[in-house]
Amino acid sequence: MAVSIKSAREIELMRTSCKLLSEVFAELENFIRPGISTMDINNRGDELIRKQDCIPNFLHYQGYPASICVSVNDEVVHGIPKPDRILQEGDIVSLDAGLIYKGFHSDMARTFAVGEISEDARLLIERTKQSFFEGIKMAKAGNHLFDISNAIDAYISQFGYGIVRDLVGHGIGTHLHEDPQVPNFAQKRRGLKLCAGMTLAVEPMINQGTGDVDWLDDDWTVVSADNSLSAHYENTILITPSGEPEILTLY
Ligand code: MF3
Ligand code: CO
Repeated sequence: MAVSIKSAREIELMRTSCKLLSEVFAELENFIRPGISTMDINNRGDELIRKQDCIPNFLHYQGYPASICVSVNDEVVHGIPKPDRILQEGDIVSLDAGLIYKGFHSDMARTFAVGEISEDARLLIERTKQSFFEGIKMAKAGNHLFDISNAIDAYISQFGYGIVRDLVGHGIGTHLHEDPQVPNFAQKRRGLKLCAGMTLAVEPMINQGTGDVDWLDDDWTVVSADNSLSAHYENTILITPSGEPEILTLY
């Protein structure tokens, strides 16, 4: 699949799709507290997406059974919401979701604290977020794709964390996953040249221990192999004609 370059009209639709998704996340962040289940989060998120006349794009994607991926503590991504998985004070919870607005997909993820969390957990969340911002400093027309990957890796490596290598970011547009893949770890090649009008989901997944992951028997939930805490931070961004990228899902 060729990398799609969005027209002005398509960019406007991407902006709206992403803005609506950001609003869902702002509501979900307020909803997080000890005592709710991961299914409560899914149901709330699904309702918020549909209230905006949008479609949750994760639901039934390659058979995924829910609208919001809810991953707790050592779960990296793609946790399946369950009514009996209750959030406890001190947990960290990663929400990953997207929606379709007039045929255009958005995708974002955040890791939130449940009540008071440890200083180590707080630092993991904060540095995972910062690695995204270090990466996208390089997301400029004329730079190369893997400049983003290298910058994320260089920033994270100083902390001794593990970067998840089995899952990567991606292009996004009329499909949830488009070319190119966007790795979060250093690459030997430069990758393609970035052009204005490309929209990318950049999404570092960072473990407190090693970056190795396993898949649970549910076929979806990805966990850190050493069961260390894991954080995720993702936005859909637009490569602009000059200077900084536009973060379409920021709130
Ligand atoms: N959130 C993943 C991504 O960021 C996609 C999840 S698809 C699902 O690319 F099926 F697991 F929901
Ligand atoms: Co994504």
